[in-house]
This record gives sequence, structure tokens and C-alpha cells, in this order.
Amino acid sequence: MSFTIIEPAPPRLNRSELAVPGSNPTFIEKSAKSEVDIVFLDLEDAVAPDDKAQARKNIIQAINDIDWGTKTLSVRINGLDTQYMYRDVVDVLEQTGERLDLIMIPKVGTAADIYAVDMLVSQIEQAKGRKKRIGFEMIIETALGMANVNEIAAASKRNESLHFGVADYSASTKARTTGIGEANPNYSVLTGKPGDTDRAVHWNDMWHYAISRMVVAARAYGLRPLDGPFGNFQDPDGFRAAAFRAATLGCEGKWAIHPSQIGLSNEVFTPSEKEVTQAKRILAAMEEAQKAGRGAVALDGRLIDIASIKQAEVMVQKAAQIAKG
Ligand code: GLV
Ligand code: MG
Repeated sequence: MSFTIIEPAPPRLNRSELAVPGSNPTFIEKSAKSEVDIVFLDLEDAVAPDDKAQARKNIIQAINDIDWGTKTLSVRINGLDTQYMYRDVVDVLEQTGERLDLIMIPKVGTAADIYAVDMLVSQIEQAKGRKKRIGFEMIIETALGMANVNEIAAASKRNESLHFGVADYSASTKARTTGIGEANPNYSVLTGKPGDTDRAVHWNDMWHYAISRMVVAARAYGLRPLDGPFGNFQDPDGFRAAAFRAATLGCEGKWAIHPSQIGLSNEVFTPSEKEVTQAKRILAAMEEAQKAGRGAVALDGRLIDIASIKQAEVMVQKAAQIAKG
């Protein structure tokens, strides 16, 4: 390990995160009864400019009045380049009790953006005597944000998670797609060579680099990496595949932009019994190996060594965290 020790963000279950427009009180009420791990009440892009003020009022009332059980509760504020953001923070934090856990900051471009919100939140917390420290979720969804992702991840002790906002990221990078997080047949390779009659098209994942880049920054600074939206809520198989690839790359969870995606996400980001059993077998085999003074052994015809212990522990610890709820 490095001599630099990074404190991990407070542990929270974050397999699924439901986007709920602040302009729709019915959806807000329903979200409290859902199986989702984190709800974010949206003041940003799901709310039209003329509805912003009413959405703020709805959200304040919902935070104060609804029984949110053990869910983590977040509010997505507007971007720092808008006229709405300061009032989002001031009104929500001044007019709610201690139930709110997180603020989600969209379109973060630089570490200074986080510094600015941190300053505002810190003043309000002090002035109002708020006891629970509000954490930050940050959406990486612009080219500038991705270029500065390390500095953003390290910008505040409030930081808890980085989210890949694939829709805005596509727009910002001028990617040729209008889908939201879906597979793109134009991002593919052709097998074989000219003249072959059996040339196959292999689709690739056009978001591989972006998600991996964000995962590295998040994990390096002790934060949770989350994959963002999958627009086609009538394609559960497509959602599942996108979620699995994000989980495989190290993401902790994925957004749900429709209630039907919550269960899918919880399922994908919960290690299966088979995976946990295998991880426990690896730990047991390595314990035996270490008793015998060996650093590496074979299990089922495969090499495992001391690094395998850490890999297996990630799986076992995740399963334990989920069981705890
Ligand atoms: C989320 O905000 C996105 O832009 O994908
Ligand atoms: Mg966005």
C-alpha cells in the first residue's frame, strides 16, 4: 500500500438510485415506498424552468413530512452556471430538518465548483445548527469534469460518490448518439478481411473508457462510483447488461429513471450466492495456504495468491453490507 492513506466515504448501500422529479409529488410519495437504496429528488433537468420554485417547495415538504424509512435521501440541485443553484441550497438546507443526507451536484467541471458549494453548505449548517454533515454526490457528465475528475474526487471531505451522467456527457463530448446509455451499433468492429463472406460485426461499449476513468478516480479517493441512466425503460435485458458491465468495472450501483429499473439494479449489484460461496472458498484455501507457509496455491486448477484474498474480501464484505441493509 501507499504511505498515503485515503479515508473511505461513509459506507452506504447504493446499488440503486432513483431519479424523482421534484415537480411531481405523486412520484415523490411513491419513491419513499420503493425498494430503492437512495432516492434523489430532482431540481435540475427533469424540472422545467417555470416549475423550479414549486419543485423546491414540494421537495422541502417531502423531506420534512414523508417517512423515508432507512433510505438515503438526496437532492439534485441545479448547476453552478444557473440562476437557481444558490436558492436550491439555501432554501432546502434552511427549511428542512435533519433527514436529508446528500446533495447531488450536476455538471461538475472543476474542484472549485465543489469548493463553492462546500462553502455555502458549511455556512448554512453552522448558522442553522445542523448536526448531520451533508455529503456530496457529483455527476461527471462534461468533458471538463472528466478532464478534472481526480481533483474533483479529492475536493472535499463531504464527497461520497461520482456518477457517470451519460446523457449530458454525450452532448458535451459531441458523441454521435441520441440514446441514453444504450448500446450503439456504430461503435463496433468488423472481423475478418476484405472478401471474407462471414465477416461478423462485434458491438463494443462506447462508454467503457469514461466509466473506467471515473471508477479509478472514485476508488482512488475512497468514493463510490455509480453508473447513470439507461433511457429505454422498456428494455430490461439491455438495462441488466449495462448494469452488469458497470458492476464488472467496479461500479457500486446504477441509476433508475423508472421504478421498474430498481429491482433490476438491486439484483445486479448484489453478489450472487455462487459468487459469495466461491469467494469464501478462496479465503478458506488461502488460510490453509498461509498456515502451511505458502503465498500461492491452486484452487480448481487456477492460481490464487495473496491478492486473491483482497478480491474475495470485496465480495464477502459487499454481501455482508447488503445483508445488514
Ligand atoms: C444525467 O444527469 C445524465 O446527463 O445522464
Ligand atoms: Mg445530466
